[in-house]
Amino acid sequence: MKVLVTGYAGQLGYEVVRLLESRGVECRGVDVADFDLTDAASVTKYIVEYQPTVVVHCAAYTNVDKAESQPEICTAVNGTGTVNIVRAAQRVGAKLVYISTDYVFSGAGDQPFEVDDPYGPRNVYGMSKVQGENAVRSLMTRYFILRTSWVFGKNGKNFVRTMRRLGREKKELRVVCDQIGSPTYAKDLARVICDLIPTSKYGIYHVRNEGYLSWADFAEMIMKKSGLSCRIIPVPSSEYPTPARRPLNSRLSAESLAQAGIAPMPTVEDALERYLVELAAEEEA
Ligand SMILES: NC(=O)c1ccc[n+]([C@@H]2O[C@H](COP(=O)([O-])OP(=O)(O)OC[C@H]3O[C@@H](n4cnc5c(N)ncnc54)[C@H](OP(=O)(O)O)[C@@H]3O)[C@@H](O)[C@H]2O)c1
Repeated sequence: MKVLVTGYAGQLGYEVVRLLESRGVECRGVDVADFDLTDAASVTKYIVEYQPTVVVHCAAYTNVDKAESQPEICTAVNGTGTVNIVRAAQRVGAKLVYISTDYVFSGAGDQPFEVDDPYGPRNVYGMSKVQGENAVRSLMTRYFILRTSWVFGKNGKNFVRTMRRLGREKKELRVVCDQIGSPTYAKDLARVICDLIPTSKYGIYHVRNEGYLSWADFAEMIMKKSGLSCRIIPVPSSEYPTPARRPLNSRLSAESLAQAGIAPMPTVEDALERYLVELAAEEEA
């Protein structure tokens, strides 16, 4: 197995490379400095030269709010960029992992979304990720689409880092309480990716840490486990307007992962505790 991982400078790509290395798998992490996803010729040239047997495509335009004012860029990176990756992967006969999102769904109702539920994206980012999924599904057979949600990891900005910073500065914080989903630790998601890629268990999976909670619940958990006294005031999304509409229901059913015999993801609480240890070590360094 020889694995090319895109989005290496991001939260997930970095963890996938670290884990593959620790398992002794030949791999290389690449980011925008190596090639721009929107440049088909560069993508093909790089992949044909490296000859991976697996491409783990973590790179994406991920700024959900900015995407509303930059729809062309977001669509070019997540839609056309994924087509470029798919075509190059096909050319060298590589399997593909495509990382997708809960935002491909409408967010209606209060039941967990199943892998074969219909699309219904509510914002530009969600639509661009549907385009990416469609490229993978229509052009490839040996693929894994992994939909995840609310990712936090070592590399990059995320909700946990923001809450800890604000929690040190403020006595109270208003956090939305009507968007429900599952935070996902990049290290745990990387483990599932690395467990799946040697197999031929192709298909679509939902991969997130175990447990459904609101952003306000998660903020409270972060404050408590970080020893911060900042009070969380739950507010509805209507009191916290953002450029991009967010789904209220981001629950992803993890049924398909269990059916494939992949070890279940740890709970959100367990994941957060491990991440906080990682952050503490980073702050001490
Ligand atoms: N973060 C979440 O909460 C979340 C939730 C659900 C699904 N996902 C999906 O999970 C995957 C990994 O997310 P993440 O949190 O690791 O993202 P991330 O930290 O934002 O990393 C994405 C990486 O992709 C790179 N990139 C952006 N445009 C590119 C281009 N045109 N060419 C080459 N590289 C480019 C970025 O580089 P720059 O930083 O230089 O732009 C960045 O290093 C993505 O597919 C995302 O859609 C994320």
